[in-house]
Amino acid sequence: MNYIDVEKLRDDFPILKKEINGNPLIYFDNAATSQRPKQVIDGIKYFYENINANPIRSIHSLAEQATLEYGKAREKVAKFINADPDEIVFVRNTTEAINLVSFSLPFKNGDRISTTYLEHHSNLLPWMRLKEKGVEIDIVNTNEHFELDMDYYKHIPKGTRLVAVTHASNVTGTVTDIKEITQLAHEQGALVLVDAAQSIPHLPFNVKDIGADFIAFSGHKMLGPFGVGVLYIKKEVSKNLGPFLTGGEMIKDVNMTKIVYENSPTLFEAGTQNIEGAYGLGLAIDYLNSVGMKNIENYEKALTSYLYENAKNLENVEVYSGKSKNFLGIFSFNVKGLHSHDTAYLLDKKGIAVRSGFHCAQPLIEERLKLPGATRASLYFYNTKEEVDKFIEELSKVAIKYGR
Ligand SMILES: Cc1ncc(COP(=O)(O)O)c(C=O)c1O
Repeated sequence: MNYIDVEKLRDDFPILKKEINGNPLIYFDNAATSQRPKQVIDGIKYFYENINANPIRSIHSLAEQATLEYGKAREKVAKFINADPDEIVFVRNTTEAINLVSFSLPFKNGDRISTTYLEHHSNLLPWMRLKEKGVEIDIVNTNEHFELDMDYYKHIPKGTRLVAVTHASNVTGTVTDIKEITQLAHEQGALVLVDAAQSIPHLPFNVKDIGADFIAFSGHKMLGPFGVGVLYIKKEVSKNLGPFLTGGEMIKDVNMTKIVYENSPTLFEAGTQNIEGAYGLGLAIDYLNSVGMKNIENYEKALTSYLYENAKNLENVEVYSGKSKNFLGIFSFNVKGLHSHDTAYLLDKKGIAVRSGFHCAQPLIEERLKLPGATRASLYFYNTKEEVDKFIEELSKVAIKYGR
């Protein structure tokens, strides 16, 4: 696990020094939101003390600086995923990014969209709602390892306009082959939207190599602030989309009889944006780059294997994640006979933060796993082997005392 100096990096995260219920915090809820390093926290303070103004609109020096920084943040995001800055739209989060596409692509009665059983609600509900317009929704199933049915993608039904798919499941950890899915979808003339909320924080990501048309992700899961996310829209595709929100700064010209809209990304950034959010996300990307995304991926792989290896002999514990060929640092489980909320409550008493319930993936948990909920430990690069040891020790105690 020598890919990164984890102890040194942990010093950058003030919250990791906290005690919770009299125990050192073990933060294993990274799939919900990551923690932030002081470089991001201090940077946002710096923004308000030195740069704050409303960018793009005003021409005074401070506003010009804010405009410059907003542009730099867009360039950093673009470079991080190997896109062009014009292909980067700042939104609030993954949810808003996907909703934007669902509202802005002109779907009509008889069109088809596919999504999958692995999805978070945010890549499910925006499509299901289009049934009201007469759009047909195909739900791609998984095998028993929670890998997507690739046969579906080899025979995508005629009339499919969009293939929506997650890159990594927030419940099973499954990493899907989005490159192959994109190739197959494009052969059938369908566009591809990838929900990369759980993948981009954890591995190197190259949109040009993958070829997808839309990529959605959230700043808060990758060390950035809340309230800022990204929608990548491939240049050639952006002209197919109409406006999403209308208002300030998204038009070239308007009078009382006509509107001439701006091009993407300005078209999709109506109103004053979350400028300090974009600035903070730029700083988060600087931080991730300084650690190295390949190092992060390798370290997390080793730590995840260590967790799974040590969880093997746990009594009264049922594991639902990690069954696919490729998976990320997610460990979803239940103590047999105990509701996931109770397990999470008992672990929290020991300072261990995990998530429980449906994880905003109710169809996957209820219909495929047939569960009333699951408990989830999710890792990031600042987690340690010692934290995994403590987690296993405490989980084992809970499982022996309350499980059956
Ligand atoms: C796979 C996946 N997609 C989308 C989302 C939604 O992200 P946000 O709440 O930031 O919009 C999440 C959040 O957990 C997620 O795990």
